[in-house]
Amino acid sequence: MIEIKNLTCRLNGNVVLDDISFKINKGESVAIIGPNGSGKTTLLRVLNGLLDIRNGEYVFDGQRIDDKFLKDAKRRKIFHKRIGFVFQNSDNQLFCKTVFDEVAFSLLQFDIKYEEVEKRVFDCLKLLDIEHLKERVPYTLSGGEKKKVAIASTLALNPEVLILDEPLNEIDPKSKRKIRELLKTLNDYGKTIICATHDFEYFKGVFKRAIVISSGHKIIYDGDFESLIDNKEFLEQNDII
Ligand SMILES: Nc1ncnc2c1ncn2[C@@H]1O[C@H](COP(=O)(O)OP(=O)(O)OP(=O)(O)O)[C@@H](O)[C@H]1O
Ligand SMILES: [Mg+2]
Repeated sequence: MIEIKNLTCRLNGNVVLDDISFKINKGESVAIIGPNGSGKTTLLRVLNGLLDIRNGEYVFDGQRIDDKFLKDAKRRKIFHKRIGFVFQNSDNQLFCKTVFDEVAFSLLQFDIKYEEVEKRVFDCLKLLDIEHLKERVPYTLSGGEKKKVAIASTLALNPEVLILDEPLNEIDPKSKRKIRELLKTLNDYGKTIICATHDFEYFKGVFKRAIVISSGHKIIYDGDFESLIDNKEFLEQNDII
């Protein structure tokens, strides 16, 4: 479903992803792990078509995602319906006047009946236990509340691939369990999940595969999730724990 081939990214002249390649099949659940600044967010931005690719290639479901593809508004819209992204910083994602509008926003870009929009918004608010926030102004919410709204608004379009950047940041322990179970259920239903996280101990039983990016911005592990988190020596040697 997703293929990255020999991708090198530079930001401000510095290499932040160095010749990385991998494939992710439909239905996989993959954790992206690495120290601060290793390039996890940059990689997720590439997967969401938010960064220009100068060196390397990104193929999504047989389609090369490049400048030309992303300039085509119609194709970009369909691409963004299929692949949902929860940002690391929720302030970059929330911009509507109310939480209800925020979750409804992406749905209203498509030709969906208003009753159906309303139903989907309430379903998503319920999934995250945030029905009580529906009239609130998003930017006045707490960090954890904002994160839950961002997740709900991403789920509203029912994307095939769900990409999350540190979804447990600022989330309380009970809600962490809820989000963990939610991701597991979505994956059991066949959604592809790709998630950058420092809370990987928390996700035992959710992710089956891990890709580790080093502080040198290269992929240094791509394999079984459980074996990785049990390998404390490797994690310590590579500044992950
Ligand atoms: N817009 C930018 N301009 C210049 N450098 C950037 C920009 N965005 C990110 N970087 C740099 O690119 C590198 C990778 O950043 P990225 O945000 O991808 O790391 P990360 O692995 O997600 O880190 P964290 O664990 O802190 O979220 C870092 O050194 C960062 O300072
Ligand atoms: Mg990041």
